Amino acid sequence: NLVHLYRQFGVTCRSIMAGLQEAKKLAAYKAVDDHVQDNLIVGVGSGSTAVLAVERMMERVRNEHLNIKCIPTSFQARQLIIQSQLPLTNLEINPEIDVTIDGADEVDENLTCIKGGGACFLQEKIVAYNSKKLVIIADYTKDSVKLGQQWKKGIPLEVDPMAYYTVKTKIEKTMGGEAELRIGKMKAGPVITDGGNFILDWKDFNPESNWEEVNMELLKIPGLFETGLFVDMAVVAYFGMSDGTVKVRT
Ligand code: 5RP
Repeated sequence: NLVHLYRQFGVTCRSIMAGLQEAKKLAAYKAVDDHVQDNLIVGVGSGSTAVLAVERMMERVRNEHLNIKCIPTSFQARQLIIQSQLPLTNLEINPEIDVTIDGADEVDENLTCIKGGGACFLQEKIVAYNSKKLVIIADYTKDSVKLGQQWKKGIPLEVDPMAYYTVKTKIEKTMGGEAELRIGKMKAGPVITDGGNFILDWKDFNPESNWEEVNMELLKIPGLFETGLFVDMAVVAYFGMSDGTVKVRT
């Protein structure tokens, strides 16, 4: 009957979510173990997978007395670092970061990433750019051959609120697809980023694009501050798999 089916559906959803959470944890823990060492300046990513990386860093700081300093990629990452009692620093004091560990929404075969599902990609890109290496951690659903195959919510673009409509129109007319203003969960207005800006999610782009060129083309539009395209930034991606293993792509 319907009640039984509904309950069964709930159980299946919960077990898929638990599986994804475990996959994220596998990737996050292994990446921290492989890349975080004593005396490093560490960029701390944003999102649910980055939370697990912080969890592992906490454990290692406590157990191995590691001395690390953390640079956040968002207001929430900063809060998490403080709550976790990890040493917090910033780009003025430590402009050179040894390693940044961050999540992604999709990673293609060349390690080009779409980031920004959590609206933090402007700071994430600043931190990644100033890092000697960017390590991506994700569950297996983010592992892709071409961008757009797995992540259907589009490429996030951070825009000045004043220019969201002109940027949207310019992209749709000249590059195709649809650039949708991201609306908050309460459906009462746009998502506001840590920088006080809006986000456009650019969907139905050409999956065969040259992402370096697309990124540069987008950044020419006045009012568009940053894109969620991370080209030639990540050096390695860790994917937690459903069978309990970790797939490492370099
Ligand atoms: C936030 C991001 C996140 O890293 C990305 O959305 C992945 O998040 P999660 O680890 O929760 O899947 O780019 O701007």
